[in-house]
Amino acid sequence: MRNLKQKITAIFNANNGVDLKLQQVCTLLKNEIRYYDWVGFYFKNGTKNELKLAQFAGKPTNHTIIPFGKGICGQVALNNKNFIVQDVTKQANYISCGIEVKSEIVIPIFKNGENIGQIDIDSHTIHPCSDKDTALVELICDKVGKII
Ligand code: SME
Repeated sequence: MRNLKQKITAIFNANNGVDLKLQQVCTLLKNEIRYYDWVGFYFKNGTKNELKLAQFAGKPTNHTIIPFGKGICGQVALNNKNFIVQDVTKQANYISCGIEVKSEIVIPIFKNGENIGQIDIDSHTIHPCSDKDTALVELICDKVGKII
């Protein structure tokens, strides 16, 4: 985890544009954490009450636009809270990106106190996530909120 934090810090400190940094974060998390199978950023789509997929690592998804309130992501867009789903079959308001996905973490990103987007992480493993996962992703969201 410490090594991973250093790599994340290096990405944010590098002299690269925001888009590249976000892509590098997705790729790094997916490659380094064995139970992260899909990692992506969704951001509010202009003035619309919907999320739009930005950078991601993993299988392409059809869910590039998600209305506020729909699915795990859409709920986080409205309630501004982390949503850790250890078993997606237990969620009624869930948008499936494939039957192989078993659990999901969505952490909001704030800029000047406003919820502007989120990191969404899908896993093919049930119950994989600990508080350490949440803390690391929160740290990333905090850094994203400062550069975007
Ligand atoms: N499962 C999400 C949809 C996005 S995909 O996981 C990439 C949801 O329920 O909001």
